[in-house]
Amino acid sequence: MAHTLILSVETLASLDFKAVESQFRINAMGPLRVSHALLANLSAGSKIGIVTSRMGSVDDNTYGGYYGYRMSKAAVNMAGMSLARDLFERGIAVALLHPGMVATEMTGRQGIAPQQAARGLIARMDELDLSSTGTFWHAEGERLPW
Ligand SMILES: NC(=O)c1ccc[n+]([C@@H]2O[C@H](COP(=O)([O-])OP(=O)(O)OC[C@H]3O[C@@H](n4cnc5c(N)ncnc54)[C@H](OP(=O)(O)O)[C@@H]3O)[C@@H](O)[C@H]2O)c1
Repeated sequence: MAHTLILSVETLASLDFKAVESQFRINAMGPLRVSHALLANLSAGSKIGIVTSRMGSVDDNTYGGYYGYRMSKAAVNMAGMSLARDLFERGIAVALLHPGMVATEMTGRQGIAPQQAARGLIARMDELDLSSTGTFWHAEGERLPW
């Protein structure tokens, strides 16, 4: 189904504000809505992993463009950090996770196998605890800059 838009290739010349807004709703508000809806089911020792992207890293933005995608992923990183702070006392840890360049529909099937990315994401979630809550990781184990 073609209802989705999680990444739009925008340059300054092709900036589409409707697409930027849509990416915000899906990529930034979606994970916050889901986390919020499930809060009553979480307790001490629960963990939240948000799949974001290193393209949302301000420090890592070396080639520009992708306005809606980059902005929406930077925003979800901030949502994850606020969740980490707000849920600390309840014993719930939160991680922001970049899966790597993965061969999915979004990338035109370029990149590593989804299974490999999933193994890395699970390993990062297994490592996550309150001492590392509110941190941003590549699935392969590199800590990413904000
Ligand atoms: N692939 C990569 O290299 C890569 C790199 C960095 C980060 N990521 C992140 O990893 C996550 C998964 O991406 P992907 O590569 O698996 O992309 P994908 O193959 O395009 O799949 C996107 C998934 O998101 C769902 N989706 C999109 N818009 C939605 C909406 N409005 N409501 C509900 N579901 C919606 C789609 O549902 P339908 O199947 O129903 O359309 C689909 O299951 C994304 O957050 C992406 O930003 C991916």
